[in-house]
Amino acid sequence: MKNKIIEGFSRLGKIDKIKWLVNNYTDNSEEVQNILTQYWNEDAALQKLHEEFSENTISNFYMPYGIAPNFLINNEVFAIPMAIEESSVVAAASKSAKFWLDKGGFKTSILGASKLGHVHFIFKGNPEKLKSWFALYLQEELYKQTKDITRNMVLRGGGINAIELIDKTSELECYYQIQASFDTRDSMGANFINSCLEQFSQTLKYEIQKAESFTEDEKNSMQIIMSILSNYTPDCLARAEISCKIEDLIDESGISPQEFAWKFKQAVEIAEIEPYRATTHNKGIMNGVDSVVIATGNDFRAVEACVHTYASRSGKYRSLTHCEIDNGIFKFWLDLPLSLGVVGGLTKLHPLVIASLQILNKPSAEKLMQIVAVAGLAQNFAALRSLVTTGIQKGHMKMHLLNILNQHAATEEEKNYFVNFFKDKTVSHHVVISELEKLRNK
Ligand code: MEV
Repeated sequence: MKNKIIEGFSRLGKIDKIKWLVNNYTDNSEEVQNILTQYWNEDAALQKLHEEFSENTISNFYMPYGIAPNFLINNEVFAIPMAIEESSVVAAASKSAKFWLDKGGFKTSILGASKLGHVHFIFKGNPEKLKSWFALYLQEELYKQTKDITRNMVLRGGGINAIELIDKTSELECYYQIQASFDTRDSMGANFINSCLEQFSQTLKYEIQKAESFTEDEKNSMQIIMSILSNYTPDCLARAEISCKIEDLIDESGISPQEFAWKFKQAVEIAEIEPYRATTHNKGIMNGVDSVVIATGNDFRAVEACVHTYASRSGKYRSLTHCEIDNGIFKFWLDLPLSLGVVGGLTKLHPLVIASLQILNKPSAEKLMQIVAVAGLAQNFAALRSLVTTGIQKGHMKMHLLNILNQHAATEEEKNYFVNFFKDKTVSHHVVISELEKLRNK
């Protein structure tokens, strides 16, 4: 009888965790145990390092770590590290990098670098009294009482930019926020922001009890609900842009540059008005974005959450990229809200993150934001370029060929045969299978 519930799992050693798991949750315990232990690193110290990143670690989950070379960004060349399992992403990024290399490359800028956080609270008293108390007294007190937390960040040129009281009572009864904006310099800043916010909530709770302008009922009606950063950072924004003369848009499919530019712009405009397409369009952008975010040890869930809120900011989910054709010039750009760090978190701990940041020439957080935005724009350019010319499957299936062959335990000789076989044909699953059968029956 299997026992699927356990007390004290986290206190078991790694091998006991695995034994309990495979015995109670799998019907081939030996196979699963072998897989899990096979992925342990031989270097025990390195293995332990990874285990300590997270609770209940029993193995490691590998992802391909690739490089997209030849990215010219603001006249500096980068080889961009990307951690991604989807076979065509690094190839697509590299193809775009090469395409734009002799056309001036990518131009980037930072449009903003501030992040927000909130103390969410309920107050059932007089709103005007709350507002004047905040303006005349509390606001300054919030700055004062976070001095110890903000000291080092201020020395690095960051800190708290602004603190406001926001009345949200028209949307939810008695609901207010203390909203603060922060500059967290080279760190993503989640711990810094949350520490400031938790201090704000303590100051608010303590100071209202001392305030003479409120009645006892008003004081007691104030309830802090929660204090937390917002992952929506529309003012922490990077722009990446490419542009060239229309006649320079030469594609190997043979389409004329004029038709290519027109179809490409149409494709972007469709994604600007049609959420079904915008979702897939933006997913392609995030193929590039997430893979660099992961390779540099940043929080891709935060980035994903933020980006999709940003894409919906008009009330409708839209394309993150935009295209313009003006006076014979084709221009394509992406504004991407990104909260990234190059210090703190995993940045000095995960060896591959250390390697990625070295490969990128130790960027500041703002520079990394720009590199990530370029990866997103390059990815979208590659996707739309294929979609409006040959279609996406040609490139996708070419890259997927090795996955299909590996699923059928193809030898190196068979793999070489198929790469050659599909040189001038579109790869399809059933052709691979039938050809493989023929080959093996020979
Ligand atoms: C596949 O991962 C991404 C694409 O579907 C993006 C797009 O359609 O723009 C190719």
